[in-house]
Amino acid sequence: MSHQTVIILDFGGQYNQLIARRVRECGVYCEVKPCTTPLAELRAMDPIGIIFTGGPNSVYLETSPHVDPEIFTWGVPVLGICYGCQLIAHTLGGKVVAAAEDSAREYGKTETYFDTSCKLFKGLPGRGITWMSHGDYMEEVPEGFILTARSEACPNVAIADEARGFYGVQYHPEVNHTEHGTDMIHNFLYEVCGAVGDWSMSGYKETAVRRLREKIGNGKVLLALSGGVDSSVAAALLAEAVGNQLTCVFVDHGLMRLDEGDEVEAAFSQWDIRFVRVNAESLFLEKLSHIAEPEAKRKIIGEEFIRVFEAEAKKIGQVDYLAQGTIYPDVIESGAGDAAVIKSHHNVGGLPACVDFKEIVEPLRLLFKDEVRQLGRELALPEYLVSRQPFPGPGLAVRCMGEITKEKLDTLRLADFIFRDEIAKAALEETMDQYFAVLTNMRSVGVQGDGRTYDYTLALRSVTTTDFMTADWTRIPYEVLDRVSVRIVNQVPHINRIVYDITSKPPATIEWE
Ligand code: XMP
Repeated sequence: MSHQTVIILDFGGQYNQLIARRVRECGVYCEVKPCTTPLAELRAMDPIGIIFTGGPNSVYLETSPHVDPEIFTWGVPVLGICYGCQLIAHTLGGKVVAAAEDSAREYGKTETYFDTSCKLFKGLPGRGITWMSHGDYMEEVPEGFILTARSEACPNVAIADEARGFYGVQYHPEVNHTEHGTDMIHNFLYEVCGAVGDWSMSGYKETAVRRLREKIGNGKVLLALSGGVDSSVAAALLAEAVGNQLTCVFVDHGLMRLDEGDEVEAAFSQWDIRFVRVNAESLFLEKLSHIAEPEAKRKIIGEEFIRVFEAEAKKIGQVDYLAQGTIYPDVIESGAGDAAVIKSHHNVGGLPACVDFKEIVEPLRLLFKDEVRQLGRELALPEYLVSRQPFPGPGLAVRCMGEITKEKLDTLRLADFIFRDEIAKAALEETMDQYFAVLTNMRSVGVQGDGRTYDYTLALRSVTTTDFMTADWTRIPYEVLDRVSVRIVNQVPHINRIVYDITSKPPATIEWE
């Protein structure tokens, strides 16, 4: 099945991935392309519409990125957002200037009035809040365009040439702060570009399975399965496509959460694939014994992981394809679109260098995280696997401060399970993006029954974030924290004190090590 495509032409704005996600959410396939992509390449994609993104520059400067005016002769609708809007105006003969202080320069939430006879605003309220972030201003709009939205400070908030299908908005419809922003994008796609909504994960599954079969033929595929969402969904898709030609090597380093290794193994028993679980707990714990320094722990785990994987790969012999769970944000962030190199460092620690294979396959390369989760559901992976929160490669080693022992890991595993269980019972999962327990290396005096205790302090950590680069600590209700605390000190031996981490990132990081 082929599908309609929208091109997101990237001029360097901070919300560009978000625009792409919104378009996909509307059931339309899109790709983000750098603004320097040759015109012929864009044309060959046969887009039904093009969206120019925002960007940090001013269109009237020579050095700013521009667009070849030929793009406007293709008969393909264009929506310009912020810089993209100004670029349409500038390229088609309008005039964009720096806004004078306190006049048409706008930042933040802005009351805006819309002309609802414009297709972009069809069926939406005539007034609402938009999210603005622009220092330039369209002094003159190009010939053929009319003004379709205004604010108190600025008469030129949106422009349209409906006959040619060109639209521009100064604000950001892709961010949540803009009321009905996604509806406006939906209108552009369906009312203007003639989208039919042919992008769905069930459709993707069928196409991807067929393409993988064509590509792989009778070849052998090897995948390093971490138990995280991306590699699990990649494995499930390949299992569906090529069955027992696939070998998944799951290195269980003994640093997983409670029952996690068994859950991963159970999930893959539904396919006839070669599933190799390497129980390497004692090996890893031996290598980590008496090591307290966080970076040293990480390095040992990374190196050991590769060695174990390499040994298993050798047993399998020649493989044709090495599969990786690279996803679209990695591809976009790499800029050049050469994500294979980036992922091999991030996810599998340079694995390709140690395994003899012909080619890499990355069946999730064009999907966003929420699409990967949806695809996992289509493939009947259990919900606890597909909705799983991020979990660091070095596992509980970076949550068990100082020297690691099996006893400390078991203590942490049980406490972490109780914390997650109480969060689930309170239905708070949606309010937090990552939450876990940390076993500190600190002991303090307590009293239990009639006796003195001298036991460990456990820290609870929960953060709310969109990008994991910055994060805020989650305001968990006191009564939930209380239930977690009471249950852990009662049920988990060797913990007599619980603290809650109330630092954001920065200055702290999300993990403690
Ligand atoms: P920090 O602690 O740096 O974590 O604020 C940011 C995010 O990255 C995750 N993390 C890792 N993920 N391998 C991974 O795959 C790692 O070595 C690793 N270290 C941290 C962390 O869980 C958080 O989501």
